[in-house]
Amino acid sequence: MCGIVGYVGHRNARDVVIGGLRRLEYRGYDSAGIAVPGPEGIEARKKSGKLANLEAELEAHPIPEATQGIGHTRWATHGGPTDENAHPHLSQNGRVALVHNGIVENFAELRAELEAEGIEFLSKTDTEVAAQLLGREVAKGIDVSEALRNVSRRLTGAFTLVAFDIEDPSRVVASRRNSPLVVGLGEGENFLASDVAAFIEFTREAIELGQDQVVTITREGVEVTDFDGNPAETRPYHVDWDLSAAEKQGYDWFMRKEIYEQPRAVADTLLGRFNARGELVLDEIRISPEELRRINKIVIVACGTAFYAGMVAKYAIEHWTRIACEVEIASEFRYRDPIIDPMTLVVTISQSGETADTLMAVRHAREQHAKVIAICNTNGATIPRESDAVIYTHAGPEIGVASTKGFITQVVACYLLGLYLAQVRGMKYGDEIKSIMDELMGMPEKIQQVLDSIEPVMELAAQLKDEKSILFLGRHVGYPVALEGALKLKELAYLHAEGFAAGELKHGPIALIDQGLPVFVVVPPQGRDQLHEKVVSNIQEIRARGARTIVLAEEGDTVVEPYADLWFTLPRVSTLLQPLVATIPLQVFACELATQLGHDVDQPRNLAKSVTVE
Ligand code: M6R
Repeated sequence: MCGIVGYVGHRNARDVVIGGLRRLEYRGYDSAGIAVPGPEGIEARKKSGKLANLEAELEAHPIPEATQGIGHTRWATHGGPTDENAHPHLSQNGRVALVHNGIVENFAELRAELEAEGIEFLSKTDTEVAAQLLGREVAKGIDVSEALRNVSRRLTGAFTLVAFDIEDPSRVVASRRNSPLVVGLGEGENFLASDVAAFIEFTREAIELGQDQVVTITREGVEVTDFDGNPAETRPYHVDWDLSAAEKQGYDWFMRKEIYEQPRAVADTLLGRFNARGELVLDEIRISPEELRRINKIVIVACGTAFYAGMVAKYAIEHWTRIACEVEIASEFRYRDPIIDPMTLVVTISQSGETADTLMAVRHAREQHAKVIAICNTNGATIPRESDAVIYTHAGPEIGVASTKGFITQVVACYLLGLYLAQVRGMKYGDEIKSIMDELMGMPEKIQQVLDSIEPVMELAAQLKDEKSILFLGRHVGYPVALEGALKLKELAYLHAEGFAAGELKHGPIALIDQGLPVFVVVPPQGRDQLHEKVVSNIQEIRARGARTIVLAEEGDTVVEPYADLWFTLPRVSTLLQPLVATIPLQVFACELATQLGHDVDQPRNLAKSVTVE
């Protein structure tokens, strides 16, 4: 939540900071602001609402040219989304400008301390205490890096702070605890940002920062210490995608672009997973086969769409490995005192790798000495860094707030993990694993087939745009797909949408069925465990009560056809892999319906891409 940019170099800071904020706006869009050093003191502009409002403000009231600057795009926590509460915040003595991502939990006591000294606060934010504390420190003659270390030690909670001192504007300083921050390394210029997307236009060389570190950037270099001033180790890395990945490339929405990138994203996630002996390899897994053989339970922990990916994975992992697998919402996990121990494998799923609820679950699991594997899309993010091992999904940056290629590649990565466990524990023969892998390798083509015949879904979205409620049903792996379809619609179209396990409907929710109510039904492939017939019966039950059934079923499924008011064919795949194709029309449907309603698809109201507060 919140996007932060800091810059020192040779370019006009306004352009770098605003360009960076544009690429980070997905992290929060309640307000935006910028500050640069001016000849007569700090020059700051800030505006509530989207970045466009700040850009209009800068047209009306330009800031001086400067080669250092900081900027912020906000998802409000403390204090409403007003101009006053927008960042940057300035210290009362005019010395420092500061932006913040996270929550300073002890802000009330710090504010009281500062107010007792005569400081008057201009905002309702927790952030302003950090600005005032920093202003007080530098006024004592302490240099801004040391001053920020002193301030950081006094704060509790989660924070990334980026600031500069007008009396020493050649440096921009930052500190981090439980909140993301990366450094971009340029030639005669350096960058700070919540995410590499902010500076990818200028450099693909980055440094990942650890917990409780303070970084100082100047034109010439970067210095990193811990909060006590001791030099700290950092991990430099090369970003393996470029600017084009962070741009819309002709699509109206990032979300639509990301939907269409799914064949490539799945192919990349599957790349290089076999060795010369034909065995599945997961190089990133730093947990020994012996340890994996000792595991007696798997707990998958995640939030939102990633949680639904985990629900899908449970079916496959249990089926292939015969290890009991639980799936849990990260925000609930540690508060119920879960039974986990060194024999438990905790698998976290997070596209961003920064979700606070999931991160806290990782820490809790490790405190109980469980092994933790992260499935993540963001190189060097906090969750993989704090886990025992990581499997990266290679989806490329996901910028639309609604997760699409993130979800699909998470399912693929979970399947790789499940197959790997089955291989290590001898639960499947090599040729069985190979045959499932072959089918997985064929999925990019199948997903492409769905995308190539998506037109009727777009038409349906136009037809249903005035509906007030839409339901989604599925069974087995189709159930989490139904939940995901409903979540997409809620977050993008703001309409009542619910997903149900189709067999559960008759235990209550069937009372919701009314004449003409649109109900999507994910129909499993024919011929396995009567699952297909059961869903066909469920369709008949709701149809008898007036539902308009929109059926997603495999090609050639003549059994279900008579009961479908509308029908979308899915390519033939096995049951466990069906989510990889069945989710696609639901993503497109939500994207298109929200577009028809005139909503901002990439930045739906009240949401932010990366939820870094609990
Ligand atoms: O970055 P994460 O995968 O940890 O994010 C988890 C959820 O916040 C995320 O999937 C959210 O539910 C999406 N906006 C749904 O489209």
